[in-house]
Amino acid sequence: MNRQIVLASRPEGLPALDNFALVSGDMPVPGPGQFLLAHHYLGLAPAARIRMGAARSYAPPLPIGGVIYGQAVGRVGASRHPQFQEGDLVVSTDAGWQEYSVSDGARASRIDAAIAPERVWLGALGVSGLTAYVGLLDVGGPRATDTVVVSAAAGAVGSAVGQIARIKGCRVVGIAGGSAKCRYVTQELGLDASVDYHAADFARQLADACHAGIDLYFDNVGGAVRDTVWPLMNDFGRVVVCGQISEYGATAPAAGPGWFSLLTKRLSVRGFLLRDHEERHAAAVADMSRWYREGRIKGREQIVEGLEQAPAAFIRMLQGGNLGKTLVRLTTS
Ligand SMILES: NC(=O)c1ccc[n+]([C@@H]2O[C@H](COP(=O)([O-])OP(=O)(O)OC[C@H]3O[C@@H](n4cnc5c(N)ncnc54)[C@H](OP(=O)(O)O)[C@@H]3O)[C@@H](O)[C@H]2O)c1
Repeated sequence: MNRQIVLASRPEGLPALDNFALVSGDMPVPGPGQFLLAHHYLGLAPAARIRMGAARSYAPPLPIGGVIYGQAVGRVGASRHPQFQEGDLVVSTDAGWQEYSVSDGARASRIDAAIAPERVWLGALGVSGLTAYVGLLDVGGPRATDTVVVSAAAGAVGSAVGQIARIKGCRVVGIAGGSAKCRYVTQELGLDASVDYHAADFARQLADACHAGIDLYFDNVGGAVRDTVWPLMNDFGRVVVCGQISEYGATAPAAGPGWFSLLTKRLSVRGFLLRDHEERHAAAVADMSRWYREGRIKGREQIVEGLEQAPAAFIRMLQGGNLGKTLVRLTTS
């Protein structure tokens, strides 16, 4: 048996528990060129909310009854794939919220548990860390003289972005929800300043923290936070559009920033998807692993126990109730 969490109905706005259903599927059997993966941990991703909706985005909507999108780390069982042997520890991007999956290896890679524990390969050394690495370094092009601002700075992607920007010598300001997250961002992650976007005087605090303006904004959230960042952008600034979580459950179209300033300030705004940058995977893992071993990249994981807890943990994450990567530990581990 393979227990799975599937889409029971499409959410309006924030998902509710009854949008999900726990079902028992058949144990998948690997065909030629495939292997079976027994999941130890699932990594929950905001992108799952995009796919739960009816609109087509960069990926087609999940059909009703489809397994919810998410990553997993686990051990290879039966294998008919030449590069993956039984017993290998592997991280798979398209594994889904279930106990087992079958992979053709296209979006999977072996991990080295001597470098970091399995769960870290879903966070700082996994999709979140690689998104931060590619988005900041390749898309954003930070310079040591830059003031970099990152939103959702205490989250899985944002916490890695802030630390990599510090490694590159930038002055880094993190935006996060609440004083506990803001303290974490400066005291544990080592960013230069943090600003709570729930504060009544958020705009003034952000302007004070960015007294020389903003050269690079790494946008994880869009919406009102982005609109507050926008007027502080310096000429020739760069905006990396990584995620727009404030709009994933939106029931009405969002108001945009002042696009005329794109022209007057000669800004570059660039969206990206990690999946288009597979060729950077090896370099990203090598650098991130080294920085992790040196203690220069830290990550937190928020772990819940058991597949049935995944929907509630996911809904909490969408509301900011997480610090770092949200994981589910499965009983198969
Ligand atoms: N482009 C790519 O290839 C790619 C790959 C992976 C992830 N992403 C995107 O990166 C972003 C971060 O993903 P993650 O996995 O690291 O999640 P995360 O940051 O660990 O968790 C999501 C965080 O978003 C913040 N948030 C939620 N609603 C918000 C709102 N209305 N306004 C401001 N902040 C809000 C919350 O933090 P606060 O408590 O601080 O509000 C929450 O903790 C997401 O938008 C995701 O879709 C993109």
